[in-house]
Amino acid sequence: MCGIVGYIGHREAVPVLLEGLHRLEYRGYDSAGLAVPHRGRLRVTKTQGRVQDLRDRVDAEGARLKGNVGIAHTRWATHGEPSDVNAHPHTDGSGRIAVVHNGIVENAEVLRAALTAEGVEFVSDTDTEAIAHLVAAALDDADSLEDAVRTAMRRVEGTYGLLVLDARRPDELVVARNGSPIVLGVGDGEMFVASDVAALVHHTQRVVFLDDGELATVRAGEFRTSTLGLEARRTDKIPTTIDMAAEDYALGGYPDFMRKEMAEQPDAVRRALRGRLDERFATAHLGGLNMDARELRGISKVVFLGCGSAYYAGQLGAQLVEELARIPATAEPASEFRYRNPVVDPDALYVAISQSGETIDTLAAVQELQRKGGRVIGAVNVVGSAIARECGAGVFLHAGPEVSVASTKALTNMTVSFAMLGLLLGRVRDLSAASGERIVNGLRALPDAIDAVLAADDAIADIAARFAKARSMFFIGRVRAWPVAREGAQKLKEISYIHAEAYQGSELKHGPLALIDSEMPSIVLVPGDELLAKNITTIEQIKARGGPVIAVTNTDLPDGLADAVIRVPAVCAELDPIILTIPLQLLAYHTAMALGRDVDKPRNLAKSVTVE
Ligand code: F6R
Repeated sequence: MCGIVGYIGHREAVPVLLEGLHRLEYRGYDSAGLAVPHRGRLRVTKTQGRVQDLRDRVDAEGARLKGNVGIAHTRWATHGEPSDVNAHPHTDGSGRIAVVHNGIVENAEVLRAALTAEGVEFVSDTDTEAIAHLVAAALDDADSLEDAVRTAMRRVEGTYGLLVLDARRPDELVVARNGSPIVLGVGDGEMFVASDVAALVHHTQRVVFLDDGELATVRAGEFRTSTLGLEARRTDKIPTTIDMAAEDYALGGYPDFMRKEMAEQPDAVRRALRGRLDERFATAHLGGLNMDARELRGISKVVFLGCGSAYYAGQLGAQLVEELARIPATAEPASEFRYRNPVVDPDALYVAISQSGETIDTLAAVQELQRKGGRVIGAVNVVGSAIARECGAGVFLHAGPEVSVASTKALTNMTVSFAMLGLLLGRVRDLSAASGERIVNGLRALPDAIDAVLAADDAIADIAARFAKARSMFFIGRVRAWPVAREGAQKLKEISYIHAEAYQGSELKHGPLALIDSEMPSIVLVPGDELLAKNITTIEQIKARGGPVIAVTNTDLPDGLADAVIRVPAVCAELDPIILTIPLQLLAYHTAMALGRDVDKPRNLAKSVTVE
């Protein structure tokens, strides 16, 4: 969601902050701002718009923003419309305390009323401004900024990643975390603060992830962590070294991150498979599950939980597990889970799926499961993220950093991981060695098959250009290809803004067929499996009503059946859905490009949804 950056050290702070914001912009991009101290007062610059707009404003202000300490923010609006005044940092009335905040203050209205009654004047509509006033008020009776933040946050209900600057104490920053990520970067005589390692990795790889309920005071050459509660217990965190390089967050010659990340998929899949396939016993090794064969056999069902594309990946996972292991398996949106008072089965395996590892709804589902004694593992890309830490066991996706808001390589690695989970669960049950071997070989063949789809880029771009003027599209798929259709519709909607809906072919004649006409293209997924003949009939039904059809298939179709055909390689029936998702990414991408959209930063969206 929003992005936080802080710096304290020996360099000019503002260029470091702007560079960090630029790298975090994918997390939110409706406004941006920064604050530095100057002779006991704050200097704040903020603006609606993108980080470049802030940069322009900073350039115009010249030498006003000098100094070796500062805080900055890029926003995705929750409370209060995007505007200059609602952009962070927010300050108290005296211009001494500045805060930047990710998350939501749930009792914002109560705090606003109480502070207003005490004579405080609010200048913005945000929930965050109350925190600046609370910290300022707490300073009167506090020995340190840290104590003031502790006292202030006792009155705040909700989630936060928080960074506070006191203009009269320019030698320190205070950060706190409850539900929104905060990471410290440890440099040589300098410290960085961010909501995401993306803002730090080009400066340092030594980092400290704050836990929920933790606070840190950060000075140029040191940091001190403690619990956020009034007892202020030291937590003495030790920095860890992260295995990420600055290049992972650079475009490296690609026009945008989505394109780069789609192209990285063959390598990302190779990484996910590395050391996990066992040819000898035709199975997979997923050591991170921490379960022996007896425990694996004891699993009565598998439930996948995720949001958005991660949920659709879970649907693909459920299909794979049920087919390979013959265990009941389902998927549901993590965002709904805790609100329907779910029955938690102690013999079930729950899988929390998240690229970022920070999605608040998925994290809350994990916590609900833990409260109810459920066994939950993570399928997470970002090591050290909240969901990874909360689950303690699981499968890391190894997709590498994903910057584009639209998920591509992480989603692919989710499905590859679930194929390995299905294989493993199958092989401790009734999946034969011969079938296991077929799946192992299929998994090994995936990277080349994905490469072959990526090579069809020009042909897919031509098809996208032909249909880019459509106002709405259908994505049709059945059984194995049903989650693929849902993900295809999602990808098209989010980056091209064309309305798209997914249906099972079998459901068309129960209603949606009424919408078919020459203006409504349908993308029909036609794997060469048991449903081939039925999918061909579906295409004929659409064509009979004048609807244009783009068939996406891995088999030979009758000549002239569809208006356009995207052909992909076949791997093995169970794994074919993984391949079928790739051309739909390219189709969405080229449609969005034909319409001149900003594919990496689609409107109204942000990467990592850390608020409800
Ligand atoms: C769509 C997309 C989102 C995410 C969803 C969950 O392309 O990226 O739908 O899949 O917000 O995010 P994570 O996986 O970070 O929990």
